[in-house]
Amino acid sequence: MPEVIYLDAAASTPPFPEVLQRYVAIGAEIFANPASGHGLGKAAHLTLEKARGEALELLGADHHRLVFTSGATEGNNWMMQVAPQRPGVRVVISAVEHASVRRAAQAAAARFGWALEILPVRRDGTLDPEAVDRLIAEPPDLLSVMAVNNETGVRYPVSELGRRLKEAGAKTFFHVDAVHAVARGFWPESLDGISALTLSSHKFHGIKGGGMLLVDRASLIGPLLYGGEQEDGLRSGTVSVPAAVASTLALRLALERRDAAFLDLGRRLREGIAAALPQVEIVGAGAPCVPWICMVSVPGMRGDALVRMLDAAGVEVSSGSACASGRQGLSPTLSAMMADFRRGYVRFSYHLGTTAADIDEAVARFAHVVDKYALPSR
Ligand SMILES: Cc1ncc(COP(=O)(O)O)c(C=O)c1O
Repeated sequence: MPEVIYLDAAASTPPFPEVLQRYVAIGAEIFANPASGHGLGKAAHLTLEKARGEALELLGADHHRLVFTSGATEGNNWMMQVAPQRPGVRVVISAVEHASVRRAAQAAAARFGWALEILPVRRDGTLDPEAVDRLIAEPPDLLSVMAVNNETGVRYPVSELGRRLKEAGAKTFFHVDAVHAVARGFWPESLDGISALTLSSHKFHGIKGGGMLLVDRASLIGPLLYGGEQEDGLRSGTVSVPAAVASTLALRLALERRDAAFLDLGRRLREGIAAALPQVEIVGAGAPCVPWICMVSVPGMRGDALVRMLDAAGVEVSSGSACASGRQGLSPTLSAMMADFRRGYVRFSYHLGTTAADIDEAVARFAHVVDKYALPSR
């Protein structure tokens, strides 16, 4: 069995050892409830608030408050309920949102009688500029556009959207799923006009079950959970200080370590695939993308079969098909991009443990699988 090369970082990244160590140390040493009034409780409270301040600073979020959550599914579901819960409210989400935004918005729309609209994308995955102009001219009550798509790596101009909404005097609550935007140069350059952003620790070498939600201090939102009034009364429940500290450390290290050499692996991956397999297309080529997520399409082979063959060859990736639900077909993101359903789609996504040799070896194994199993394209 060849050595396994894990290239499914967009699904989850390996936690930094320092992060796991810190989680265990804080959990053992400062185990008291941060809401308790005694010495150890106060120490836990101070540790928590220090982590919160550090994370806000790292993210350049001067005008936002930070709520520690269990991950991005929680943050996204919560934010898709912040609009007034009555009929007639207008909600717009992009056509490529993660299921935790899309399905939460659909459920809320059905429950509260909201009008839910989809902001379309073009074939390369970018937003349709005319639809964006219409959106700014007629701003909705709630808008959700992700910073980086989890399947294609395509980046969305969320800072520009925030600025334009603000300039237009819109009252829109603008939410950004920023799960895959944690790297210098890829995090939104300005958070002005962005009401909320969701993050998930395990996507940046943190722990599972840890996340962050940034909410503009000026935006009034209702609580997610009622109880002991923790997190400014927004999310009751004893806060996990170890999770908060570990998440913040992961954020700092990821921002430091996702450097030029890390980013350059994306070029190596794309050039390697193009050289080895000219029939393979890179999805979203030409659109602004993050280097570390790369979706490709292959003629003559199904995506789920490709994933299985690559797994057998020791390369762990994901497909862009909607097989999770037992259906075969394209994911909503690829469907919105009018992707060719006859091709097979696979996503390569690398992480900070990936080496140039891993990329080269994965490309070689990919080329071998495609050459051996794909039907000749007509
Ligand atoms: C873009 C995006 N948003 C949200 C999520 C959900 O994150 P979590 O696993 O923290 O619930 C994911 C995870 O796959 C994602 O890729």
